[in-house]
Amino acid sequence: MCGIVGYVGNRRAAPILLEGLKRLEYRGYDSAGVAVLNDGISIVRKKGRVSALKEAEGMGGTIGIGHTRWATHGAPSEQNAHPHLYGRFAVVHNGIIENYLALKEECLHRGETFSSETDSEVIAHLLNYSYRGDVLAALRETTARLKGSFALAVLCRDEPDRLFLAREKSPLVVGRGEDGTYAASDVPAIAEKCDKIYSLSDGELAVLDRKEIKFFDRVGTIEKRELAIDRSADIPQLCGFSHYMRKEMEEIPAAIANSLIDFATDFRFSAFCEVLCQTKYMDIVACGTAYHSGIAAKHAVEKLARVPVSVHIASEYRYGDPIVKPATLVLAVSQSGETADTLAAAELAKSRGAYVAAVTNAPYSSLTRIADFVLETGAGREIAVAATKSFNAQLAILYSIAVASARAKGKDVLFDSLRPLPALAEQVVSKIGDAEALSADLVRARSVYFIGRGADYCAALEGSLKLKEISYLPSEGYPAGELKHGTLALIERGTPVVAVVTQRATAEKTMNAVSEVCARGASVLLVSSFPELARRKEIAHFIPIPKCEECFSPILSVIPLQALAYFTSLARGNDPDKPRNLAKSVTVE
Ligand code: F6R
Repeated sequence: MCGIVGYVGNRRAAPILLEGLKRLEYRGYDSAGVAVLNDGISIVRKKGRVSALKEAEGMGGTIGIGHTRWATHGAPSEQNAHPHLYGRFAVVHNGIIENYLALKEECLHRGETFSSETDSEVIAHLLNYSYRGDVLAALRETTARLKGSFALAVLCRDEPDRLFLAREKSPLVVGRGEDGTYAASDVPAIAEKCDKIYSLSDGELAVLDRKEIKFFDRVGTIEKRELAIDRSADIPQLCGFSHYMRKEMEEIPAAIANSLIDFATDFRFSAFCEVLCQTKYMDIVACGTAYHSGIAAKHAVEKLARVPVSVHIASEYRYGDPIVKPATLVLAVSQSGETADTLAAAELAKSRGAYVAAVTNAPYSSLTRIADFVLETGAGREIAVAATKSFNAQLAILYSIAVASARAKGKDVLFDSLRPLPALAEQVVSKIGDAEALSADLVRARSVYFIGRGADYCAALEGSLKLKEISYLPSEGYPAGELKHGTLALIERGTPVVAVVTQRATAEKTMNAVSEVCARGASVLLVSSFPELARRKEIAHFIPIPKCEECFSPILSVIPLQALAYFTSLARGNDPDKPRNLAKSVTVE
């Protein structure tokens, strides 16, 4: 959440900062701003998207910082937009300063005045107060007093050639290019410019000048290892699509193919397979869409391997008092690898003796540094805020784990059952456009319900989340058998109900629920791998899904639901790539 960029070099900073911010806009788009140092610090800040910063384009100066905000403390407004300037210092911040009220009180007591409602402004005040001619010392002193999470980029009026950075629990990368040095909260902002990239760890600071980057911890200087970057993957491009979400749905078959792992033959994972052999319990910790992949994985692992799996919302797990039994493997699932709650849950599980495996799409993310094992999804960078291909990629790895776990328990389950999935997904993706006509039913709905049983319930949950986050329609994913215990009261004439039916054993049971909602006037869209069900009189619309091993079916059945959400969002005049109030990487609690 929130995007940070910084630059110091031989070129004009403003255009570089604005370009970087555009690439980071998926991290927050409530407001944006830049500060440039050129005979004093000048700032341009605006409410809204980065495109509102037009007047910043002409700013002179070859050193600066920029920010795109996802509001936590204080409404989205120009006044609350970063950079925050106080005294000699301009600061951009990603994270939350939990003790800001106490710190602010102290500043107010000294007679200082604040111009925003943010938690971040206090950082500029503390820097100014601690500064005695040495910015690094002031930054060390200030960060030592902050509680919470932060990635900071700091300009000081007295230092026209140096940019200062600090990280604690919020991502920050720096890089060196031909024309200077760069900083950002994520690689795409600077990938094109840099040939060497470094990722800061918690407690680390960096000082950038036109040529060099120096790294520090709380006591002295440190060396850091450079990271390779894949430029083609790290520079997002629409490639002729109108939206990233549309492009990313097209990439689902490749994301699945690149994420399946035959653990029996892939020796990179032999240590992980040994742990699978000893594993008696699995816990999955994740948030949002990744939590839904955890639910899908539970069905597959329990069915194929008979290993009990508990799935936990990471924000609940971290503040609970979880019982981690001996021989528990914890899978922390996170597209970004930066979700604050998932990181904390993984750390807690590890401290209680579990092995932790990260299932993530971000190879250099914070989660990979906590985990004992890293299982990288091959979805490629995902830009649209609503997750699509990363969900299918997570399922591909989690189903691969289910197969490996079954084999580790001596069961005769073959990786071959997973091999057809990319080609089957290709068939479903080729029909994505059909969802456009069906979205007409949803556009004016007051609310929408998604129902299913077992693995189909998981697809229903994800279909509902997708719809609500980008169309803003109230929506619920519900177990089909549970409807009559309350939610059925909400069904009225014309209420759209999307039913997912791919499990032979429970198909007729879910069809009973379909009859019950139809009897109350619902309009039913059925997504099913049983074409014969299309003829039932209750079905208003039908989307066929190819058959696969039943416990893997959400990887296919979710695709038309993602498409339905996309087209409904467009039909309601929304931007599906940038839903209101949301951001791609949830690095704050
Ligand atoms: C929904 C969505 C979110 C994320 C959640 C976890 O489309 O994208 O619900 O799934 O914020 O994010 P990661 O996977 O990065 O931990």
